[in-house]
Amino acid sequence: MKLKLCITSLLCTAGIYASQAHGTQALSETQEGIKYIKMLGGTLKSQLKSQLQADPSGMSAIGFCTAEAQRITDEVNTQLPDHAKVRRTSLRTRNSINKPDAKDIEVMKEIEASFRNKSAAATMITKVETEEGTRYYKPLIAEAACLKCHGENISPEIQTAIQTSYPEDNATQYTLGAFRGVIVSEIKKR
Ligand code: HEC
Repeated sequence: MKLKLCITSLLCTAGIYASQAHGTQALSETQEGIKYIKMLGGTLKSQLKSQLQADPSGMSAIGFCTAEAQRITDEVNTQLPDHAKVRRTSLRTRNSINKPDAKDIEVMKEIEASFRNKSAAATMITKVETEEGTRYYKPLIAEAACLKCHGENISPEIQTAIQTSYPEDNATQYTLGAFRGVIVSEIKKR
């Protein structure tokens, strides 16, 4: 009963831990949702990490984020079934393409509040039912590496590069451990 309540309520902030699918067994909807979040998050993070290792100033990484983040997002989406989609968003976006919709804002405000109360874990997945289907939200935390481009002390070179590409940038002034945004996967009703 509890689980059902949780699943049917608008916001379910309980942690959902997907177990691996075995053999040819079809993935559950939740397993699918989490898998697609990991596909996008894993790809972006590993590429960002190698860019920052090659050039710790962050200048080559900022070029990479500007040129490649959306292309990689599109590419991951082409690998998903037609009923699924994955993207990133935030309450304060840098790239207007990533702007949240009303539901995203509602969910992120809840997540942000639970971060302030220190009750949230970075692994927490929020499951939300919408008219179109089910969304899964995974929080992204501002780690030390993220602060080079999203923090309070951004180098002048990076600041200039950000301003040139994103004059309407709102995604700075984050502190270590802050809630930076989410990766959202959506599984449409079939
Ligand atoms: C080298 C600079 C750089 C670093 C380091 C960096 N980002 Fe970004 N980030 C960007 C740029 C540029 C964009 C806008 C391009 C895009 O992704 O569409 C962006 C966009 C985002 C977005 C999409 C929402 C939006 O604001 O448009 C999220 C979420 C995000 N970053 C989170 C992170 C997290 C979490 C980290 C650390 C793991 C991180 N970033 C590290 C430069 C950076």
